[in-house]
Amino acid sequence: MDAWDLKRIISNFHTYPKWMRTSMWRFMHRVLLSRFGFSDLKFLNYGYVSLDPKCELLKLDESDELERYSVQLYNHTISGVNLKGKDILEVGSGRGGGASFITRYYKPNSYVGLDLSKKLIRLCKKNYSLPGLSFIYGNAENLPFEDMSFDAIVNIESSGSYSNMDKFLSEVYRVLRPGGYLLLADLRTIEENELLRNQIEEAGFNIINEENIVKNILKATDLDYERRYKLIKDKAPLYLKNLSKEFSSLKGTKRHESFDDGSLIYLRYMLKKS
Ligand SMILES: C[S@@+](CC[C@H](N)C(=O)[O-])C[C@H]1O[C@@H](n2cnc3c(N)ncnc32)[C@H](O)[C@@H]1O
Repeated sequence: MDAWDLKRIISNFHTYPKWMRTSMWRFMHRVLLSRFGFSDLKFLNYGYVSLDPKCELLKLDESDELERYSVQLYNHTISGVNLKGKDILEVGSGRGGGASFITRYYKPNSYVGLDLSKKLIRLCKKNYSLPGLSFIYGNAENLPFEDMSFDAIVNIESSGSYSNMDKFLSEVYRVLRPGGYLLLADLRTIEENELLRNQIEEAGFNIINEENIVKNILKATDLDYERRYKLIKDKAPLYLKNLSKEFSSLKGTKRHESFDDGSLIYLRYMLKKS
């Protein structure tokens, strides 16, 4: 296989069956993000920017400014639900930036970040020490908690790589208290979202809000282009540079094009356990 073949494989990524995309996502997370020294990153998501010119800019501490767009995705995903004094679980907490942001700015009673990557959990335990915040290794499809343990569950850009979404939704339903929320943000094709909506309803959730925020995501990746491009240029191994650009949805990639032409959408769901 030459470089051209690899480029063609990458650019047709979105047309592959879900199990193949899932495996590639897993590969990217494991190899690129936990092995190759992106240690200064706190987030692994596309980010969010409001399209309303009158929208007030979220006030952030200086130390949160570098990854503002990723912080804004968290802020938008949890908007409309009061997390103060509540018990929160995040499934797929990645490098812990969102867990730290919500704990510091929204003051829940407790916040548990759970992830399938032992390396990322070790990193989070080392990097964050905040009252009420903890991290635990675990699988979204088999949550290591008692029934009705949480008031809200946050899930950002993680669900697309689960092998059994029904199992995840039933686990979330089980560990949520009555009236609790699942706050989910992720990308899908239109057909995959039809399926997801059915799965959500079958799991017993009420859809309080479903929003396609793809334009906000695209704008964030465009505004953040320079920083992301430089990170990939400086830190990604040579053989993964193109793949990294694709996964980061940089301008000029197939993924960016798919977001732009509507073949990929990006959803924010607010779901309530009845
Ligand atoms: C794209 S990252 C997003 C991380 C974080 N939510 C953020 O926005 O910065 C997806 C995360 O989901 C985790 N993940 C994937 N499959 C999982 C599973 N079955 N159970 C728990 N975590 C999982 C990955 O290890 C990765 O850290």
